[in-house]
Amino acid sequence: MTARGYQQRAATYPAEIAGVAPPRLLGGLLHSGTTVAEIPSGTGHFLRVYAAADARVVLVDASRAMLAAARPVAAGQSLRTVCARIEDLPAEQVGPVDVVVMPNAALNQLAADADLGRVLAAAASVLPAGGLLLAQVLLVDGDRVSGGCGFYDPDLPDGQWKPDRRLRDAEGRELVRLRRQHHQGDRVLIDFSLTRGDEHLYDHQVALRLFTAEELHDALTAAGFQVAHRLPADNGAQRSAEVLARLPATRIPWRTRTVAEAGEYWDRYYNDEFVTGLGTETIVAALHTLPPVGTWMDAGAGSESLLWSIPLAAEHLIAVDLDTDRLARLRAYAAARRPRPAYRTVLEMCGRTEHDFTARCRSLAATLRADCLTGRPLPIAEGSVELVTQFGLLGLAATPEAFLAAWETVHAPLQLGGWCAGANWVSTSAADRVELTEELYRQAFQACGITPHLLTCEPIIADPDFCAVWIYTGRTA
Ligand SMILES: C[S@@+](CC[C@H](N)C(=O)[O-])C[C@H]1O[C@@H](n2cnc3c(N)ncnc32)[C@H](O)[C@@H]1O
Repeated sequence: MTARGYQQRAATYPAEIAGVAPPRLLGGLLHSGTTVAEIPSGTGHFLRVYAAADARVVLVDASRAMLAAARPVAAGQSLRTVCARIEDLPAEQVGPVDVVVMPNAALNQLAADADLGRVLAAAASVLPAGGLLLAQVLLVDGDRVSGGCGFYDPDLPDGQWKPDRRLRDAEGRELVRLRRQHHQGDRVLIDFSLTRGDEHLYDHQVALRLFTAEELHDALTAAGFQVAHRLPADNGAQRSAEVLARLPATRIPWRTRTVAEAGEYWDRYYNDEFVTGLGTETIVAALHTLPPVGTWMDAGAGSESLLWSIPLAAEHLIAVDLDTDRLARLRAYAAARRPRPAYRTVLEMCGRTEHDFTARCRSLAATLRADCLTGRPLPIAEGSVELVTQFGLLGLAATPEAFLAAWETVHAPLQLGGWCAGANWVSTSAADRVELTEELYRQAFQACGITPHLLTCEPIIADPDFCAVWIYTGRTA
């Protein structure tokens, strides 16, 4: 991708890309103070989204004219620009940044001229351990390209000009952008022509390389990334597919099966101020949608059932765990009846009071030591509880078969018409855990006659040990 053709497009570029929808995963990655680099940026595709999140922005592009045209668009925003080609990216000048965004099939465009692996390695060079890459991509599956992007439509016949943008110049005169495309093997050539009445303002050609999801996955892995999340294209809404990848944390992996021993876990999670970006907000919101229940069983409860109890309304809680130390902490915490800081935030989020927390502490009816991951029945009668939850338990299973077996035994106590909910975090370091997929969850739901009400996978940005969390709710029919 050369800068030359783009010089002449710089003035109209902000209007040409104004309709490009931001990646659906972007919002969840940005927080106040996050530094995001858009590469290659043109005049900046999602400046408004970055500004709304109070994120710091670095625009990286090979065209000086594009970067100059970005300045007035980003008026008042914290913005740095770096003029460079991705092949010669000056890593220390750009990074380290928290997130790299490759917008609007830019990766396909870069891959038309440069090796895909090299491009991704260049993106990785500006990220620290745990850093994130989010790309809007065109993926090919057989002879079908999924979705389109701001300048490519898989259904447009080759060679046919199509007016695809109507813009206004500074004097208010109408400009029309015409576009046509030609497929050549795994490449697509796209011609643009901008006209004002009979006047020709520019002609410009760009090339795209189409690759498969597997090729992208392999190239990401070779560049040192782990794929955290993939979103398919949404043809109806004209959104391209998205890939979120993460560089692994360099921290020493925990040796225990779960992320930390009881005391360390207690100190590390939910003890101090509430930490956003761990998925907790989404889980709390999901639990808040469930109706009041009589008896609730929390499997793999550890010391934290009372956190999840805040958005719920349950009369009696049975907490089940293999680790008696964690259960003892839970009992002591319930007896103390004083919410820790993160718990206070969740109370506020849910509009609950300290009095409500006391009621939840009192609801702890029993703690039970049991191994929930063997696939053997739990010592709780079938059909005796109205709500079964697990947070961080079933994802510890080593294989899909073990996950399905444990899922069945954990949900066996559920009554007809009862509810289930839970969350499982995807580890960046533990190699011995089941790969969680939508298909696996759907299989698990079906095996137990549960209709899913929510099944979503969210990226995690606040903990280098995890890159995503699966969250679900469902009901037995
Ligand atoms: C990641 S922690 C989650 C704890 C708690 N649910 C929370 O939300 O913070 C996983 C929990 O699963 C428990 N666990 C691990 N293996 C287990 C097993 N085989 N049976 C029952 N509990 C187990 C651990 O003791 C730990 O409390």
